[in-house]
Amino acid sequence: MSANIQAIKEEIENYKVSNEEELEQYRLRFIGRKNILGDLFAEMKNVPAEERKAYGQQINELKDAVTTKFQELIQSLENLKGDAQEDHPDLTLPSRPDTVGAIHPLSATRAEIIRIFERIGFNVSEGPEIEDDWHNFSALNFPENHPAREMQDTFFVEKKPDIALRTHTSSVQVRVMENQKPPIRTLSPGRVYRNEAISARAHCVFHQVEGLFVDEGVSFADLKQTLYYFAKELFGKQTKVRFRPSYFPFTEPSAEMDITCNICGGEGCNICKYSGWVEIGGAGMVDPNVLDNCGIDSKKYSGFAFGMGIERITMLKYQIRDLRLFTENDVRFLRQFTSLS
Ligand code: PHE
Repeated sequence: MSANIQAIKEEIENYKVSNEEELEQYRLRFIGRKNILGDLFAEMKNVPAEERKAYGQQINELKDAVTTKFQELIQSLENLKGDAQEDHPDLTLPSRPDTVGAIHPLSATRAEIIRIFERIGFNVSEGPEIEDDWHNFSALNFPENHPAREMQDTFFVEKKPDIALRTHTSSVQVRVMENQKPPIRTLSPGRVYRNEAISARAHCVFHQVEGLFVDEGVSFADLKQTLYYFAKELFGKQTKVRFRPSYFPFTEPSAEMDITCNICGGEGCNICKYSGWVEIGGAGMVDPNVLDNCGIDSKKYSGFAFGMGIERITMLKYQIRDLRLFTENDVRFLRQFTSLS
């Protein structure tokens, strides 16, 4: 092989392009009208006759190599462009740790309350958050235009007929009594709404768990015993409970239930308003009118009901001083509860 052909062959093999211009240079040099192979063909006449055949063959092979290489160069240029466009991840970056979420403290408390009452035969019932007047008020013995309706700072959705965001989950208990026959033992946890100024102790959206027990011969002693059991299960055996007379339209007699403040241990702090006691809910014997309103014979059956705020109970249990923390979604707060899940 002539040294010239050999040199050109190597030049083709080693050719690299990184842009269109360089590709065009290759084309002009090896393929274009005045390409370098033309000179080699012109040489043919000076080659001795006996070598001419081999020489011709070499040039033809060179020509094939030129076209094959040209295709390769076009392809390599395409790949280069593709690489530049693609957004490649940086594989040298350190990996981001996976953070596992935690159960919200309010959900944990709700679940714990349900577990405690399930052990004594209560089931769970749910109902709508947008309620009609009957289920939130009238069936519960709130007379029309009675000031007790104002007691609950209702958010109305519609007036006449009154449709409102439920102010308590007693509305769910009405629905249960309308649809089931005693014995009824049910808990109704859920979100409730009241038009109250937001502070460390109150919010316009919060959660309640209410309970209802209706059967023959249910007495106030049953109510007290049930709530003693509950308070000791949730807050510990040392917890003391007291009942204060109170008023609710739907219970008679009615009581407010307090437990010893477990933030200060009864000594007095801003959560218990320096009294040593904190209110955790209301309770009472279901007013016979309410039973009758719901189609349950009040001469045959009696019942007790109670209701409490899940926020309040969670604050006491975990010594949280500001209820707004529950809805601010600050992970520094929420992460403190990862062990509950
Ligand atoms: N429904 C009352 C409230 O939201 C609580 C309660 C329930 C009181 C049952 C007595 C009996 O304030």
